[in-house]
Amino acid sequence: MKKSLLFCLCLLASINSWGQYFRSEELMKVGVYYYPEQCPEEQWERDIKNIASLGFEFIHMAEFAWAQMEPLEGQYDFDWLDRVVGLAEKYELKVVLGTPTPCPPKWMTDKYPEVYLQDSHYQRKEHGTRANISVTNPKAIALTEGMVTAMAKHYANRSSIVAWQIDNEPEGKKDYSPSAQVAFQKWLKAKYKTISGLNYAWGTAFWSQHYDSFEAVNIHNQSQVGWWGTNPIALLDFDRFTADQQAKFLDLQARIIRKYVAPEQQITTNYVAKSYGADPSRTHDLDFPSFTAYPNYGSANLGEQGFRIGDPNVLLHANDYFRSQAGLTGVMELQPGQVNWAGVNSLLLPGTVKMWLWHCFAGGSAYACTYRYRQVLYGSEQYHAGIVLPDGETLSMGGKEYVEFMDELKQLKKVANPTSNLPKSWAKRKTAVLWSYDNFWNLNTQGQTQKWNSWEILHRFHSLLNRMGNPVTFIHEEEDFNQYPFMVVPAYEMVDQALVDKWKKYVEHGGQLFLTARTGAKDKNNHLWEDDFSGIMSSLIGAKIEAFDMLPFGKVGKIDFGNQSLSWDIWADLLEVEEAEVIGSYADQFYEGKAAMVKNKLGKGAVWYLGAYASDGALEAACLEHFLASNGLDVKPLPEGVFSYWHQGVQVWVNYSSNAYTLAIDKEQKVLFGQNPIPPAGILVCQ
Ligand code: GAL
Repeated sequence: MKKSLLFCLCLLASINSWGQYFRSEELMKVGVYYYPEQCPEEQWERDIKNIASLGFEFIHMAEFAWAQMEPLEGQYDFDWLDRVVGLAEKYELKVVLGTPTPCPPKWMTDKYPEVYLQDSHYQRKEHGTRANISVTNPKAIALTEGMVTAMAKHYANRSSIVAWQIDNEPEGKKDYSPSAQVAFQKWLKAKYKTISGLNYAWGTAFWSQHYDSFEAVNIHNQSQVGWWGTNPIALLDFDRFTADQQAKFLDLQARIIRKYVAPEQQITTNYVAKSYGADPSRTHDLDFPSFTAYPNYGSANLGEQGFRIGDPNVLLHANDYFRSQAGLTGVMELQPGQVNWAGVNSLLLPGTVKMWLWHCFAGGSAYACTYRYRQVLYGSEQYHAGIVLPDGETLSMGGKEYVEFMDELKQLKKVANPTSNLPKSWAKRKTAVLWSYDNFWNLNTQGQTQKWNSWEILHRFHSLLNRMGNPVTFIHEEEDFNQYPFMVVPAYEMVDQALVDKWKKYVEHGGQLFLTARTGAKDKNNHLWEDDFSGIMSSLIGAKIEAFDMLPFGKVGKIDFGNQSLSWDIWADLLEVEEAEVIGSYADQFYEGKAAMVKNKLGKGAVWYLGAYASDGALEAACLEHFLASNGLDVKPLPEGVFSYWHQGVQVWVNYSSNAYTLAIDKEQKVLFGQNPIPPAGILVCQ
């Protein structure tokens, strides 16, 4: 009894003195990846000392070092890692430890080859790479439990270990191995209960697909059946299953860690910024999600210099999306310069790395960690930039920008107010974006036109909202809609009556709802409505959908919108108006005069439905601007590629375009960093 009281008091004292390290109400922290196992021990102290003197606050280690931490089955060796942690402590650096589950050691795969994942050609993976084990395989799971338990017990109470990253870039890889097949059958049984339930939902009456038992169901494999044999509902369930298994694997590790480690040690994982198969909302036992961001992956991007600056949507999306999941996020890996894996790995335009860092800060990331400190001398990532050059000491171009940014953060500390609330002028524009992986997966499977790109549709509205001055939060259906004056819903395909009713209530109470084409086209079983194409949406949007059209490459259709004539080509719903007001109509094709965009007033608010998409995006921009302006907002969109945020008491602009722009700043605003005009890859920070 006495003992436990003492234990509780000690625990309380340690919580008070130690505290959680990553916090949204503190200024951003900056860290770096370090791989002691990849360089001689004589160099560790030099490196760690240098990392600290450059201004980094934490190091990230061990996520690929299973072979070093468990050299033989059941024999764990943490001595080498202890020595590095000791050095980190000597130089006052905090540590984030990764669990090494992406890289199984050779003894494991030799002895238990069943742990390997199988691809869609039933080809087993091999040793020498990563993310090659099946997260459904019982042996792989048992060995993971052993490794993670040993690690968690060993580092349970070390106060320099501030967080755990589980695995690395958990991607939800498609797995067709025997253990995945069995796990899928179990998953289906839990979902559908009876085989007739599955037969109905999957529509197995089509092409003799009927199943007599769950044991008879195999994973619907698109690469074996061809696109014409694809059952979209079976594929969607496989996507859901894959994401669930990925989440289960993360949760399992998180629970083990949580069982042993001090409560202050936080638990996260580093999702890929635009992950395809992993869905963070499916985990329950992590404290918050982190993300990895490689904005320059060889694409052309905006204008002449875009290939050196990067894709504007990577950090735009990742900051807002991951922050929205648990109120706390950060970038665990941010590219410090050239990568080795893009089609073309060009040098970055000077300023780019620093601009990305400011973008992370502005978007609410509580930390930014960079992959990696040293450029590795060997291995598949030889040509990947680090903070220092291959000599291990000289700062790289990106390394210099990290140091500049960390200096600026120090100066910012004097004036920023990390706990301040969003000013009223920003809060009144708060916009929820309703988005889900289920809809994303499904629309990717059934684009219906080669021009369909689900990411693009989402980014289009997201970036327009930011450029028009509306701060974005991503939400799920279960959340409270009413805290957002505006809600934008891009292509949310599967709905049910409960969601439609929730939208109606939101609007009746004054919410302004902007829905875009293909929203509500199906039920939650992924079936079309036994109705016109609007199904249960018609009473909400005040119109029916008689048909939908799309145009081949090289052709555009026209829409009259007020006094503007705008193009469309990706998608066009032909709306038959009931109660709604028509605000845009098709101006050509054989259905000239049909409504393309409507507004339906309900109670104190209104629902807007934009029935078309255009490759040039001008239609979406004009309609969104009209939607916001007619709700009393002053809308002066920033140029393409320029984003702005208010965060912790300062306003930040970043510029991904190839042009310099003069920004309209208020007379009272004081420039802290950067310049106006803002150059390409430039920043402007004002108080
Ligand atoms: C990331 C990965 C890192 C490293 C990096 C190279 O996707 O998580 O471990 O491989 O790419 O750019």
